[in-house]
Amino acid sequence: MDSFIKWMGGKSQLRDYIISIIPAHRTYVEPFGGAGWVLMGKPISPVEVFNDINAELINLWTVIRDHSGAFIQWLDKHPVSEQLFYDYARGMGYTREVPEGIPNLQGPIERAAKYYFLIKMAFNGIVREGASFSARPNDRPPFMKFYATEWARIAERLKGVAILARDFEPLLGAYDSPRTAIYLDPPYLLPNGDDYYEYPFKDGDHDRLRDALGNVQGKFILSYGKDRTIEDLYGDFEIIDLGEGEIIITNFKPVKGAFYRGSRPREYPGRDGNWDSPNCPYCGSRDVKYSWERVTIPNKGRSWIQCGFKCNTCLGVYR
Ligand SMILES: C[S@@+](CC[C@H](N)C(=O)[O-])C[C@H]1O[C@@H](n2cnc3c(N)ncnc32)[C@H](O)[C@@H]1O
Repeated sequence: MDSFIKWMGGKSQLRDYIISIIPAHRTYVEPFGGAGWVLMGKPISPVEVFNDINAELINLWTVIRDHSGAFIQWLDKHPVSEQLFYDYARGMGYTREVPEGIPNLQGPIERAAKYYFLIKMAFNGIVREGASFSARPNDRPPFMKFYATEWARIAERLKGVAILARDFEPLLGAYDSPRTAIYLDPPYLLPNGDDYYEYPFKDGDHDRLRDALGNVQGKFILSYGKDRTIEDLYGDFEIIDLGEGEIIITNFKPVKGAFYRGSRPREYPGRDGNWDSPNCPYCGSRDVKYSWERVTIPNKGRSWIQCGFKCNTCLGVYR
């Protein structure tokens, strides 16, 4: 499933690779959530935690999970409008001069809908001080491309996800364990400073993250832009150059398909330490059926039928 927003630094392009190296786990944590491309693309884990320090963004995720009906109703009544864009931007404090006396009496649903409206119509989806309107004249209004059924699917996917607005450090402290997998996508180290996020990394935050990750018991996958300072900082870890200026840093030897792709998940010993456990290796559910699946090789068109297990909870298939 795709994310419902674009976000600076969103991992829509790299997510398949990232998902393919997520190691065996029970708890999945994403401390720098943003648009959540990895969360939305991966199979469900028994415990999932999605976090971003941006409380307005987290309110949007929470409202979509808990009140998608009311959220859609609000959007239905609001067409693309430059006037409304600037009215809402001003009302939510995204202008340089916030006029005095603008009451902030909106409830979470209205705030979420307005924030979503701003993301969809802002230049590059960047909503922060000085955000500017950018809608292409011949485009169908972006949020109208989503229909009620899609919102319902998104809300369903998020059911059971803990959605939090904390700094990464206390979050890691709270959810780390030997059975935790952590995917981190912090703001990158940029030569001229980070100017994209409403909450950029401050001086010392990159070191603070390195120190926190040096102490985790779980397994982490960390995305960064290729940079000598970062590579030196993480010299004790595995560093994979993905090309196109992107690197991945891990505290384990990543194996593509170790858990989420390929046939049998190699690192997962089952809930009771038994490879033949009927529990689903992806989400731990016992609602698993042995069945025959038709398998097709992409691009080659060859297909055959093979036996395997299918999980009725997360729909994962494995042998
Ligand atoms: C590169 S973006 C994440 C993009 C995301 N992976 C995606 O696919 O859309 C980095 C995020 O980190 C958040 N952030 C910045 N400082 C943070 C902090 N100290 N703790 C947690 N989140 C933070 C920003 O608000 C921003 O949304």
